Amino acid sequence: MSAPSRREFFSTVGISSLAGLGWPAHAIGWAEPPEQYLFKPGLLYFNTGSIGPCSRKVIEATIRAWYELESEPLSMTYGKEGTTLAAAEAVRTKAARFLGCSADEIAITRSTTDGINAIAESLNLRAGQRVLTTDQEHEGGSMAWQYLAKRRGVLIDTIKIAPADLDASAIVQRFAAAITGDTAVVSVSHILSSTGLRMPIPEISALARSRGVLCVVDGAQAAGGVQVDVKALGSDAYATSGHKWLMAPKGTGILYISSNAAERIAPMQFDDGRSFYNHSTGVGNIPGAVGLGVAIDTLQELGMENVERHNLALRNRLHDALVQRRAGMVVSAPPGPLATPLLTLMLPEAISIQELANALSDNHSVIVKTVPKRWLNGIRLSTHVFNTEQQVDALVNALEVELAKARSS
Ligand SMILES: Cc1ncc(COP(=O)(O)O)c(C=O)c1O
Repeated sequence: MSAPSRREFFSTVGISSLAGLGWPAHAIGWAEPPEQYLFKPGLLYFNTGSIGPCSRKVIEATIRAWYELESEPLSMTYGKEGTTLAAAEAVRTKAARFLGCSADEIAITRSTTDGINAIAESLNLRAGQRVLTTDQEHEGGSMAWQYLAKRRGVLIDTIKIAPADLDASAIVQRFAAAITGDTAVVSVSHILSSTGLRMPIPEISALARSRGVLCVVDGAQAAGGVQVDVKALGSDAYATSGHKWLMAPKGTGILYISSNAAERIAPMQFDDGRSFYNHSTGVGNIPGAVGLGVAIDTLQELGMENVERHNLALRNRLHDALVQRRAGMVVSAPPGPLATPLLTLMLPEAISIQELANALSDNHSVIVKTVPKRWLNGIRLSTHVFNTEQQVDALVNALEVELAKARSS
């Protein structure tokens, strides 16, 4: 008997039996087996938040597109119907369906940073106008504003979010209190890179709109890991990466600009339209865009509801094990509405995080992210479709071993 398709599998087990920890966390691993990835044997990869792996299917589609492109470079790059370019163009429609908007509102970029830069550059902010953001933004979401501050006299206001701050409504209130008559933009992450906190974006977007301020969201840590509906989030723009949770080729990204904000957010590189190739974009990474389309298809087939449930089930298992074993201070949200597939463990300053990450890699083949020091002394762990309960348990054991060594040295 042939193996059931992923859809058949999920409909056989039924959505209700997938709920919470009752759902075998390896179910998606079964549907999307580890052999689908090129990880070296035994590698336990918990750093999708930095960079995600491409599946074989995505790699093969990307390479196939590249071969096809090079067989007739001119027509495949500039031609229209039936060409590799046409396959790349189709990715905007897939991305739009994935994020819940129209293809006219989507542009393909190189990265989240590329998207945020395009937005910031397009706004023509004047000296004295203000951008409101947080102290937890990744450079990809903040460098563009710093550029405008340095070169054009734009002012940046920053609200603080402490590592273990889990009070979403207090965070919204701080945004409300910090908006002034000169605030032109609120720029904020959907999921904080530092602690994985799921930010109250619908509330922040609504607040910004009520004050006539644009809301720009950095979605690098969200799309592909959790369900994203840009219309429900309500922001004017949303930039994300292909090469993290979407598990698409490196150097791909998606930029959403709401049709309501298209007059105000009008990047130069999309002046000739939002198509993948036009006179203002120039030639792009066509094979990469084809691969991005296949990566989106893969997640759609799994169903983002299932993917998010799987990711959170593993992350909650990790949360509970780390809290129970007192491995350090889990600064991420407990299981619940603010939790995401990113989990951060804060450790005493005496423990060298880099040495810990090296030991986990060298002695256990466990890959984690060291959190930048400006945020906290800790490690960040990501759980995605290829991770399993067994891997989470192995990670917890490895951490316990290495933390015991670090504490006794
Ligand atoms: C919140 C956030 N924004 C932006 C980036 C940068 O992403 P990219 O390299 O795709 O621009 C990262 C990378 O980790 C991130 O965590």
